[in-house]
Amino acid sequence: MKIKKALLGILLVGAVVTLAACGKTLSTSSSSSNKPSAQATSFSPDVKAGGQIFVDYSCVKCHNYQGKGGIIDPVRNKAIPALKAKEAKSLKSILTNGIIVSKGKENGWINMPNWRGILSDQQINQLTAYFKAGLPNIGAKPLPDTTGPEIYTAYACVKCHGDYGKGGIVDQVYPASSGDHFVPTLDQGGYAKDNGVKYAKKLMNGSIPHHGVATGYPGTLFMPAWGQLMNKTQLQAIENYLKTGK
Ligand code: HEC
Ligand code: HEC
Repeated sequence: MKIKKALLGILLVGAVVTLAACGKTLSTSSSSSNKPSAQATSFSPDVKAGGQIFVDYSCVKCHNYQGKGGIIDPVRNKAIPALKAKEAKSLKSILTNGIIVSKGKENGWINMPNWRGILSDQQINQLTAYFKAGLPNIGAKPLPDTTGPEIYTAYACVKCHGDYGKGGIVDQVYPASSGDHFVPTLDQGGYAKDNGVKYAKKLMNGSIPHHGVATGYPGTLFMPAWGQLMNKTQLQAIENYLKTGK
């Protein structure tokens, strides 16, 4: 029995290596080996790119690595869902509309942000490939998140607000004439206006522009209640970054 299994293992590994050597791409959800390095070579470029986006766009901060879940929304005391391959079907719609569970209220609840105009169609396709493959470990490196600038990248602040002080991304739902056409710039001037009170409030509670009618504006970008998912040291670091730019 044991010998048969070992033999089968060798044959499977051999098959993977042969296929890879032929230049074919494989997108398996489970590899015969648990070593990240061995796995990392056996996924198609799209699956790999999707796995990297899953880290770089902060999906991991709410859904955990490989979407395996276990992260709690501390205000509702409710788990943010684990993710499954079958969600590939609805992914595009979810990523461009988000899911507002707080009913538009700024109450610190963790909503599913939308990334309309931030994730390109190609990136959404790559994420979809990653989901279809079963959200495997593709060997993506976790982003450091200790200092202010690191947090600004790891929690995807930069994806919506742009480089610190330079101004945000266009929100495609609001017309150019609207004050909400751009995600606001974060800078020391904005922070200084009320000594950071507004900044801190939006960081802790999230913020949905025109929240009263938020559900009537599907696809508007909004501010996740990120502060709820940070520890005290991280909160101090990001607050200091918003205050000083350092
Ligand atoms: C700020 C936290 C947060 C981030 C960041 C986040 N999500 Fe979510 N996501 C949620 C919450 C909360 C829900 C559940 C909404 C609900 O209860 O219906 C959710 C739901 C989902 C669902 C539907 C799951 C289901 O069971 O119906 C998918 C798919 C998903 N997210 C994918 C992603 C991807 C891909 C990314 C990165 C681009 C991402 N999420 C980033 C909080 C987040
Ligand atoms: C998915 C996009 C998105 C991400 C990611 C995001 N924000 Fe925001 N943020 C917004 C939007 C949109 C607003 C405007 C909300 C409003 O007008 O009520 C906002 C508002 C804010 C404000 C209030 C600014 C003001 O002038 O009122 C602060 C502070 C802020 N964000 C900080 C952060 C930090 C820090 C991070 C990362 C930890 C972050 N944001 C990540 C979209 C985002």
